Amino acid sequence: MLPGNAENREFANGCMLAAKDGGIGLITFNRPDKRNAMSLEMWAGFAAILDEFRDDDSVRVVILTGAGNKAFVSGADISQFEHSRNNAAAQQDYDRVSGAGRAAYAAFPKPVIARIRGYCLGGGLAIAMQADLRIAAADSAFGIPAARLSIAYEPHSVRRLIDLVGPAHARMLLYSARRIDAAEAQRIGLINRMVADEDLNETVIDLVRGIADSAPLSVAASKLTIDELMKDPAERDMAPVHRAIAACFDSEDYQEGRTAFLAKRLPVWKGR
Ligand code: COA
Repeated sequence: MLPGNAENREFANGCMLAAKDGGIGLITFNRPDKRNAMSLEMWAGFAAILDEFRDDDSVRVVILTGAGNKAFVSGADISQFEHSRNNAAAQQDYDRVSGAGRAAYAAFPKPVIARIRGYCLGGGLAIAMQADLRIAAADSAFGIPAARLSIAYEPHSVRRLIDLVGPAHARMLLYSARRIDAAEAQRIGLINRMVADEDLNETVIDLVRGIADSAPLSVAASKLTIDELMKDPAERDMAPVHRAIAACFDSEDYQEGRTAFLAKRLPVWKGR
């Protein structure tokens, strides 16, 4: 879906794909026959791709998407629950293995956009909610089926849900396990924007191009600031935030921003 001819590289036996082009990194959950259900191996592949994209200065912004048009991610791979998630102790083990991927994702410093088409359920919705922005096609469907399986959603995902939609809608989604469509998801704030199916690519590419053209230090400082301010006050670490803000003012890019403005040309960012 990237505009150039970016080549996909395979991770997790091809169930995760990575490509990059023009400042944009693309991560694809690639198990369309299983509605892109997220296996433990895919969590490991996800972590590996995120680590690469984090360290690659040519990647300014990342898109997450699901292969095919039926699903973003249909949740955790339920077929693995029988062996790896069948009681509380096994669940702890499961959390440890998937934890590396979750940690890499939680600490990822660049903006992430979830491009959603089709089912976005359970753990798949948790992945989308943790992205910075969510753009969804009109044919998308959202829900948290945990109460249909007698499992409970992780506290950090519940927190994120409440941050996005407030406690009333969070209760509705969690207690009822009801699926909602993209229009309702947009109305309650679960997604940033719903677009016609055929406009999804162009909308997402336009958005990420705009982000990729922005000053990277500014964007990183904004992301860090918002992430810290969303934490409980006692858990906030504001020192890195103040350092990130100071780094913007001390940067060559700030000088470039001023010079380019006065010269009426586009700035060329170095990220320093
Ligand atoms: N884990 C494992 N396999 C899954 C899956 C999941 N979360 N979601 C879908 N699949 C598999 C199905 O078992 C099926 O496999 P099969 O072809 O070998 O039988 C295949 O994907 C296609 O699913 P199917 O149900 O036939 O497609 P559908 O388009 O009619 O429905 C869903 C799609 C996503 C609505 C439905 O599969 C579903 O409800 N999945 C479970 C969602 C869920 O509970 N997620 C939370 C997990 S914590």
